[in-house]
Amino acid sequence: MVEHTLVVKNARIRGRPLDKKYTIVVDGDRITSIKEDANLHGETEIDAQGRLVLPPFFNMHFHLDSVLTLGDPRFNESGTLWEGIEIWAERKKKLTVEEMLARVEKAVKWMAAYGTLWVRTHADTTEKTLTTVKGLVKAREEFKDIINIQVTGFPQDGILTEPENLELLEKAIELGADNVGMIPHNEYTRFDGARSVELAFDLAVKYNKDIDGHVDETDDPWSRNFEVVVRETIRRGWQGRVAAGHVTASHSWDPVYRNRIFGIAAKAGVSIVPNPLINIHLQGRFDNYPKRRGMAPIKLALEKGVNVALGHDCIMDPWYPLGVGDMLQVLFMAVHVDQMMGYSELQKSLDLITINGAKIWHILDDYGIEEGKKANLLVLRGKTELDALRLMGPPLYVVKEGKLIADNTGGESRILFRGKWEKLDFSQIQE
Ligand code: FE2
Repeated sequence: MVEHTLVVKNARIRGRPLDKKYTIVVDGDRITSIKEDANLHGETEIDAQGRLVLPPFFNMHFHLDSVLTLGDPRFNESGTLWEGIEIWAERKKKLTVEEMLARVEKAVKWMAAYGTLWVRTHADTTEKTLTTVKGLVKAREEFKDIINIQVTGFPQDGILTEPENLELLEKAIELGADNVGMIPHNEYTRFDGARSVELAFDLAVKYNKDIDGHVDETDDPWSRNFEVVVRETIRRGWQGRVAAGHVTASHSWDPVYRNRIFGIAAKAGVSIVPNPLINIHLQGRFDNYPKRRGMAPIKLALEKGVNVALGHDCIMDPWYPLGVGDMLQVLFMAVHVDQMMGYSELQKSLDLITINGAKIWHILDDYGIEEGKKANLLVLRGKTELDALRLMGPPLYVVKEGKLIADNTGGESRILFRGKWEKLDFSQIQE
């Protein structure tokens, strides 16, 4: 009898006929076979009991430096972006690598337990000591057994708003940031906005890095830095290496303009990364009723051929008081806000937190429930894609590179961290 590393039995697999149940066989860190025969054994055996198995989630836009600082030094009572920025300016003065890593550890355990194995975080490079970058680069190494982290150097206050900000952004890359960020709508003028995009691309080309910007995160229909991002992508030959986060202004653009720009973005291979929870919460704040939804038009972008992946943006910080790291909550919000509620649309919508993230991460060749690919998988609570969105919550099991790392069965959540199983507490107050 051949003993395999891991065997997952009675699995429905996303993308295969749902009237069939499969056994997924893992040897080492790879899926070696997928069969209808259930008479196989492994060192670890999981009975999926007909539940849906799919590859794990991507959280393509997040701020780990501010995560879990809610209420410190004070709560955001207005719920606005601006009060959040003020609170963060106070909070970031007392950042240390140690206290940040303690918060990040808790957050990434929650995320991994909820099935996210890839998170792209921004690190605020206008925090002049660059504690943010140093801490998050360290976190990437410290927590790699439970989650894959990419760090984007993010000039929160702008690249041209202060003389040293460009230098700090470059320093962040030298300290090990994976991607170059920007925030053109936060520069003083639209000309500076355009210039800041060019400067970010200069750095990306110099250090051979991908770009991931906060782009047009406003309701202003004249915020049009996205077109500069698209143009620079084509001009520099950076197709497939650029993601634009938020792009909420595109919700308010004239339809003629929106259609044209998304068409060019598709040609340029520029991805967009909406953050539905934060966008619906922070946008539309200058509107009286009716209020705009303030989320990039995902449906239109997809129709135009633009790659769209989602981000959670924040968990319990100055900008967003809720969240536990569940990308299904993020997707649930997205499909409602953009009315992607057709039956096929709902089924397909899971791509926004799975394969579309893999495209941006450049791991398409090794991502998916297929023979020969890395054994990263989730056993969800439900049996179908619709169930995934109806039931949400943590998956029953999370497997990373052939190893069971999270178990949410039996009424509690446990994670394998540094060789030991730990019980997780998702409460606001930790006993
Ligand atoms: Fe963000």
